[in-house]
Amino acid sequence: MKIQIINGPNLNLLGVREPGIYGDNSFESYLPQLQALYPNIEIDYFQSNVEGLLIDKLQEVGFTYDGIVINAGAYTHTSIALQDCIRSLKCPVIEVHISNVHKREEFRHHSMISCACLGVIAGFGLDSYRLAIEAIVKAR
Ligand code: DQA
Repeated sequence: MKIQIINGPNLNLLGVREPGIYGDNSFESYLPQLQALYPNIEIDYFQSNVEGLLIDKLQEVGFTYDGIVINAGAYTHTSIALQDCIRSLKCPVIEVHISNVHKREEFRHHSMISCACLGVIAGFGLDSYRLAIEAIVKAR
């Protein structure tokens, strides 16, 4: 089984960026812990600050992988291009957020991509990614 994790803009700054909201860990330090929980699953990781590169990665893996976990960062709230892309794919896509976006500013309450995703997990810190992987495993 192969699962792709995709992080969007500013998530390369996890651990540094607003730690009160996003925590003290970088994604690179969390990823090996997550991979160790699922030794039988290939969990690949990609991060970009560039919308088009996120789309390229979705298209690259979305017809062959078993699932995608995406935190599109602020593009969540703006990107019709990401929604169109996710709609085009064969594999299930789970939208994740580290913070509970519904407890935050109003502009974070709407997602352009939720309607194209299998489900949404938000507000559990980095554990949101593990919960999304659980959802993909169970959906199979
Ligand atoms: C985020 C929430 C978004 O509103 C924000 O723009 C991010 C991170 C989260 O993981 O909580 O960059 O997706």
